[in-house]
Amino acid sequence: MANRDLNAATTGLDGKRVMVTGAAGRIGSATTLRLAEAGAQVTALCQPGQDAPGADRVVHGDTRSPDDVAAALDDVEYVVHLAALIHRDAGSAYDVYTTNVVSTFNVLERAARRGVRRAVVAGSINRYGLPQGIDPDARPAYFPLDTDIPPDVSDWYSLSKLNDENTSRMVWRRWGMDVVTLRFPHVNSMAAIEELSVRLTDDPRPGLTEGWSYLDVRDAALAIELALESTAAGANAFYLAAPLTSIPYRTEDVLDALAPEVPRRKRFVEREVPIDLGDAQRLIGFHAEHVLQLETRELPPQALR
Ligand SMILES: NC(=O)c1ccc[n+]([C@@H]2O[C@H](COP(=O)([O-])OP(=O)(O)OC[C@H]3O[C@@H](n4cnc5c(N)ncnc54)[C@H](O)[C@@H]3O)[C@@H](O)[C@H]2O)c1
Repeated sequence: MANRDLNAATTGLDGKRVMVTGAAGRIGSATTLRLAEAGAQVTALCQPGQDAPGADRVVHGDTRSPDDVAAALDDVEYVVHLAALIHRDAGSAYDVYTTNVVSTFNVLERAARRGVRRAVVAGSINRYGLPQGIDPDARPAYFPLDTDIPPDVSDWYSLSKLNDENTSRMVWRRWGMDVVTLRFPHVNSMAAIEELSVRLTDDPRPGLTEGWSYLDVRDAALAIELALESTAAGANAFYLAAPLTSIPYRTEDVLDALAPEVPRRKRFVEREVPIDLGDAQRLIGFHAEHVLQLETRELPPQALR
């Protein structure tokens, strides 16, 4: 069944004005085009010198600036907030943390005060702390990673994404703007995901704390559209990913080898991703449409050397 059919109660984006921050970025450019194709009028808030194909209005500015965000919010009904420094090493610790948390606060607070009804925010799998954390041997409290997995944060990027979820909740509590935070895994083109797959097939260990998860950038844009159209009320934050891992090994086998001590709350079937996708399905009707094609293989001892 198509994603859209699953989400029976949709509001529709046709003719609605949506502000997209970070619209020139990897996820933002795919999202801007997709929303425009869905009939939305897109206001792109981009950094100077950037363009956003599909947007019928481009505002050059900084998401940390109240004035820039206020200018971009004219006539806007929905917000998609993607602008961020997207890795621990994308700047100084101060710049990464403050850019992300100030931008999210500023965009959501301005939007809510202006009466925007719904915002979709790019969260991250990193909000639980382990993938960019200080301890490469750290293990999650359990598998599958789910909405309630306890965070153990030791870097400023993950902290920014964790705190962004508090901001979303505050904004909903204070002004009643519904916010959906999509805790993205690694998002990229399928060609780049194939390259990642080759590396993780050779050595699966670096992918453990992300459950070897990924999402094609087209599916990230789809999820954003579904989240905008959904009737999910409140401040919701949840994981989403392709349903299968980026490695050719059975998930149970690779967890037996690399994380035997971590409790498993279910048995994973074949290459099932060890991430709970239930909330993404239930709340926004999301199922990934682009899945890496891999033949299942036995886990070779050299993959664990
Ligand atoms: N790509 C991934 O694997 C991934 C995974 C998890 C979460 N995310 C999140 O998704 C969002 C989008 O990521 P992406 O992969 O498209 O990244 P990207 O770097 O391609 O895009 C981010 C955009 O934000 C803009 N930006 C940064 N600081 C800004 C500021 N102060 N004012 C205005 N614009 C600013 C940048 O110019 C860029 O165009 C980010 O919030 C990121 O943390 C991405």
